[in-house]
Amino acid sequence: MRTVADLRSLRAAVQAWRKDGQRIGFVPTMGNLHAGHFALVELAHRHADRVVASVFVNPTQFGPNEDYTRYPRTLAEDSVGLVEHQCDLLFVPSVETMYPGGPAHALSIHVPEVGDTLEGAHRPGHFDGVATVVAKLLVMVEPDFAVFGAKDWQQTLVVRRLVQELALPLDIMLGTIVREEDGLALSSRNRYLDAAQRARAPQLHATLQWMRESFMEGHARAAVEGAAMRRLERAGFIPDYAAVRRADDLAIPADAERTGLLALVAARLGETRLIDNLSFD
Ligand code: PAF
Repeated sequence: MRTVADLRSLRAAVQAWRKDGQRIGFVPTMGNLHAGHFALVELAHRHADRVVASVFVNPTQFGPNEDYTRYPRTLAEDSVGLVEHQCDLLFVPSVETMYPGGPAHALSIHVPEVGDTLEGAHRPGHFDGVATVVAKLLVMVEPDFAVFGAKDWQQTLVVRRLVQELALPLDIMLGTIVREEDGLALSSRNRYLDAAQRARAPQLHATLQWMRESFMEGHARAAVEGAAMRRLERAGFIPDYAAVRRADDLAIPADAERTGLLALVAARLGETRLIDNLSFD
């Protein structure tokens, strides 16, 4: 695996492969890679001749009081894992490469509607930062397809809308959520949890399962959401939302709708904010 930090080397490598008619898959990440990320690399491999990954902790998608500075940066371990999973090229741009005028002066892309609700409402500006950096990375790497994890379901919808509206010539692929045996979805932020919080954390997934059951039994959406919030509070979380939504646009489903839905939750355990979702189909 080659590691490159500058655009010229990135483009030269990708263009050489393209000239040979090779298909290129791309896995953008913020590093601190775990089995969930490596599953995305493997998925990319099944559909590509060459896999490019990026590690960039993107400052513009963190709010002023969020964990940008303490976000785990583990490039040496990440590289070992990527080599093991046969990544061909790792792009590790600097903040200057991604934001030549500085992050505070950067162009910003807002994805309305699907980017405004849930995470967008609780983390103002978050999806502007995600959409902006993803657009930049996709233009820089020029892959045939890019792979995103389904744990960040709303992010995948934001990215799809971005790609569609900018008419970027690539496909978006989704990996599945990788979970610990007790149901906790893998996340770089799990490492912030102390032992007591880690013991409570699986309740997030358990609550999603309870929401699915309860909604499919015929209980009203608002009642299920309210009860899920209380359930999370009882389990020691400070929940931001527990929502039943349409999977394809996050709109609120009509009363009788029972297909194409999912439940999404976001909640804090101490300082650590976790998100998760579960399809009802
Ligand atoms: O999902 C992530 O790790 C990030 O939001 C992404 C897509 C790499 C953009 O910084």
